Amino acid sequence: MRYLITSALPYINGIKHLGNLVGSMLPADVYARFLRQEGEEVLYICGTDEHGTPAEIAALEEGLDVAEFCTRQYQRQAEVYEKFGLSFDYFGRTSSPEQRELTQDFYRSLDEHGFIEEREISQVYSVTDERFLPDRYVEGTCPNCGYEKARGDQCENCTKMLNPTDLINPRSAVSGSTDVEIRTSRHLFLRLDQLSGEVREWVDAQTNWPNLTKSIAYKWLDEGLQSRGITRDLKWGVPVPKAGFEDKVFYVWFDAPIGYVSATKAWGEQEGKDWKSWWYNADDVHYTQFMAKDNLPFHTIMWPATILGTREPWKMADYIKGFNWLNYYGGKFSTSSKRGVFLDQALEIAPPDYWRYMLMASAPESSDSAFTWEQFQTKVNKELADNFGNFINRILKFTASRFGTELPAGGEPGEAEAELEARCKEFVEELRSHLKNMEFRKATETLNALWSAGNQYIDVRAPWTLFKQDKDEAAVVIRTCINLIRLYSVASAPFIPTTVETLFDALKLTEEERRSTMTDATDLTILKAGRAFDVPPVLIQKIDDDRVAELKAQYGGD
Ligand code: MF3
Ligand code: ZN
Repeated sequence: MRYLITSALPYINGIKHLGNLVGSMLPADVYARFLRQEGEEVLYICGTDEHGTPAEIAALEEGLDVAEFCTRQYQRQAEVYEKFGLSFDYFGRTSSPEQRELTQDFYRSLDEHGFIEEREISQVYSVTDERFLPDRYVEGTCPNCGYEKARGDQCENCTKMLNPTDLINPRSAVSGSTDVEIRTSRHLFLRLDQLSGEVREWVDAQTNWPNLTKSIAYKWLDEGLQSRGITRDLKWGVPVPKAGFEDKVFYVWFDAPIGYVSATKAWGEQEGKDWKSWWYNADDVHYTQFMAKDNLPFHTIMWPATILGTREPWKMADYIKGFNWLNYYGGKFSTSSKRGVFLDQALEIAPPDYWRYMLMASAPESSDSAFTWEQFQTKVNKELADNFGNFINRILKFTASRFGTELPAGGEPGEAEAELEARCKEFVEELRSHLKNMEFRKATETLNALWSAGNQYIDVRAPWTLFKQDKDEAAVVIRTCINLIRLYSVASAPFIPTTVETLFDALKLTEEERRSTMTDATDLTILKAGRAFDVPPVLIQKIDDDRVAELKAQYGGD
């Protein structure tokens, strides 16, 4: 088996927040890093989702050409993800030539097999803006409650679902102009109704899917699938290869998932690798998708229907890991209302690994979960700093001052060491099994339990006292602890890769030793007496109460 992993492609407009990171990219990265460490062949693909009206409007607001806007935003996002240690094999763009070609191919296959129909629809046109307006870009007064800023798809005030034509005094949300009218235009529709049976069969066959994923898929299937428009009257997007449709592009949600394939193709071209074997007739590939729950309908219904309708053997997901919401003080993290902590801000607050650990430890897996600054502080101080960082710094500093910067010789491991090793083996088996099952919260709990094992061991074996009584015994304890530090670093690598790099350097591990599996690293006698090491700088800095108060004031958490 080879492992293909994708994270939902983040929208291009703006830097994402912690909620986006925890719901799609970070867990996929931890999983990818774990599988690579286990020696598996992994291809981890992501990229920016660049089409659609929000990108056009954001570009307009910044006075930039949309293509240029996207290039800048792409670079900004790619840079932030790199700083967070996201180990994509390729980070692509849906504005690429590969995307255009593949999207048009998918459309042609669907059309050939009779799953495309043409229909005329009425839409709001803004004369001032010279463009058709998607429903949510039409604003006006709600006919139900009188709220003056109701959107054409829904009234935010009374939650009533609306059509743009229901609004009183409709106007363009782009320019505020009231010079709007209804115009008709021809569009292409995907016959989801005809594909519904096949999609259901496919969903039925996915016996191992998590509940959240299954229940959302069935909710849509049970409500009945209807034809869905896949074209829009816009300039920015993949052109529709059909006579009479020269001024139209595909709807962003039609082309977005094709971005997984096109980014893989771009990777193959760049690396000189066979990209197609990952996607076409790829029975030897195990494919896992990661996403937040709002994306589940598209990935359990619309995208599979698109693939099934091509009648071609494109790879479909073997497993879809969906996440609930990470909330920020009673509401959702939100890009549009600038609520919560954005990724560039997060990096100014603390190093990436603090976030990576904290977010995985509070991942919204079985239900929505809440981000609080106290929780951030507790996870960093009590787990990352006390159990992991302090243990390491303390042991290595003590060793350097009493024995010098080489693993000390003398003594033989005894019962306490055998017991510690047995416990470590159990924890590592548990950790591996959680990671295989993509249960990230449980995985961090087990990792933290493993980190605590060291502190429990030195509570009993107290090398500081032992040193004065029996130097050989102290040497055994120290060698065991340094081997344990090596195990910590290997086992923690999928979660906190940057810190682990520092630790690998401090332990002067060879390239081969750095590639060790967790299982192999449970042997606590691998690093022998005489091996040199460096004392690393303080690995984890605690976050004090004043800082927490400051952050709460600054980011509006109360
Ligand atoms: N851009 C979408 C979002 O951020 C996700 C698209 S996932 C894709 O919610 F696969 F369809 F691209
Ligand atoms: Zn209303």
